[in-house]
Amino acid sequence: MMTMNDPHASPLGEGAARLAAERMLRRAAMAWFCVAAIGQAAFVWMILAHYGRKTLAGDLAAWNDKPIIKGYVAGDAMGNLQFAVHVLLAVVVTLGGLMQLVPAIRARAPALHRWTGRVFFVTAFVMALGGLWLTWGRPTYLSLTSAVLVSLNGVLVLALSVQAWRMATARRFDAHRRWALRAYLAVNGVWFLRVALMVWAPLTRGWGMDRKLSGPADIALQLCAYVLPLLVLEAYLRAQASANPNAKRAVAGLLIGLTVLTGLGALGAVLILWGPYML
Ligand code: HEM
Repeated sequence: MMTMNDPHASPLGEGAARLAAERMLRRAAMAWFCVAAIGQAAFVWMILAHYGRKTLAGDLAAWNDKPIIKGYVAGDAMGNLQFAVHVLLAVVVTLGGLMQLVPAIRARAPALHRWTGRVFFVTAFVMALGGLWLTWGRPTYLSLTSAVLVSLNGVLVLALSVQAWRMATARRFDAHRRWALRAYLAVNGVWFLRVALMVWAPLTRGWGMDRKLSGPADIALQLCAYVLPLLVLEAYLRAQASANPNAKRAVAGLLIGLTVLTGLGALGAVLILWGPYML
């Protein structure tokens, strides 16, 4: 029987508890990533099935067959071109981001990881700058509040991508991993927003929302779309580095809860936002 005086009992027990908590945290993060990857694949499916198909068929006016603020506008060649580049590059940045996070690709094909990394950051840059132009230059927004909130997302994408790239070229790979994860989450801010809207709207019957994305819930959800994932990532990174098994278990529990919400939101997006317009 172990006693309190046994000098070996406690460290061994602590070591086992820490390993178990580390495993739990790793599995919870993996579960979230798998659900998010399926949800992001659905986003890519929508883009290809709707914008890709209509663009290839040369029927640009059909972009507007799905609810959208300003897609195809007759006579606006520049705006239409920018829009097409923006939505079609969304496929590259979303798939590129997912690829970067798969550990097997990083380990077995580091050259591929470096190239997809470059493509991801350049595309993220073009997307954020193009998105800012669409918002303010075209202009495309439902309300000034929503325009400012999505623009903050764009600025975050630019800042976090620069930082992740700088750390990679400085060969500071630990810092690069942290900044690249932040950039990945910011790039997916527009996807997170759709997931968050599709959790909130059905559960609360649209409480605090209006048709201009400017109600109190709309504002909170638009902010949450990029602030919340970044905060959860910080909690995850700290729990990973911590020796305290309780911290790891708490963040693992949080990630499990968020995995369920992410799955529900992604399903809602497919069923409500995209599915009905894809046929
Ligand atoms: C970097 C990641 C981004 C991705 C993957 C992305 C993806 C997309 C997609 C798929 C659409 C078509 C929307 C739909 O059919 O529902 C879209 C539209 C649009 N995006 Fe982005 N976007 C990103 C960043 C941004 C940023 C940062 C801004 C603004 C600063 C922005 C502004 C816009 C605007 C104004 C539209 C047109 C919306 C409409 O007419 O309804 N995007 N984007």
